[in-house]
Amino acid sequence: MNKNVFISKHPLVLAKIAGLRDKNTSVADFRRGMSEVGMLLAHDALANAGTKSAMVHTPLGPCKARVLSQDIVFAAILRAGLGMLDGLIKVHPQARIAHIGIYRDESTLKPVKYYVRLPDTIENSLVILADPMLATGGSAAEAVEILKSRGAGRICFMGVIGARDGVKHLASAHPDVPIYIGAVDEKLNDDGYILPGLGDAGDRMFGC
Ligand code: PRP
Ligand code: URA
Repeated sequence: MNKNVFISKHPLVLAKIAGLRDKNTSVADFRRGMSEVGMLLAHDALANAGTKSAMVHTPLGPCKARVLSQDIVFAAILRAGLGMLDGLIKVHPQARIAHIGIYRDESTLKPVKYYVRLPDTIENSLVILADPMLATGGSAAEAVEILKSRGAGRICFMGVIGARDGVKHLASAHPDVPIYIGAVDEKLNDDGYILPGLGDAGDRMFGC
């Protein structure tokens, strides 16, 4: 796998993904699990965020500290990315939020863009793009294209399960975008679903 692809080995991530994969997991537990995996993957994806020194005052006196020097933007690919966004916001509530509406055409599996709402300025931000499923990689690659066309300079992708070829597709289309992923599965079925995957993430998130 490409050196810019980081597959989580964290026991909690693995255990929570097992719950997400389980077809008997309820909608409520699925939502909670998706949010929690978002929080845990954020730990890795934000590890390289810029920091600067600052002085804070504890109750006992001054203390040299480090604070973020970089604005963080969380970008969710609709719909399923909203589930991870919930966890990301818990980790860093100050972040600005971007919404990118893309669905896959069922017959061609090509991404179709239907909504884009980004913060005004994202040039100097670290943009964390979240979508739980990276199947062909087309939707994520298109979302990165949109972010770059609006000036984003630093982008990371974060997902729960990727298909091997989809991860490769995104990594080769955007070699400057690190990919943080919970698990990589071998293949897609004839309908473009990740095998074994977890099914349709949007439908499971929203109880469709
Ligand atoms: C799913 C998923 C990704 C996309 C992945 O969205 O959340 O956005 O498919 O597939 P790809 O890597 O082959 O592009 P979907 O099209 O089902 O839209 P939805 O979340 O609104 O249901
Ligand atoms: N989208 C999903 O929600 N699941 C898949 O397995 C592939 C695309």
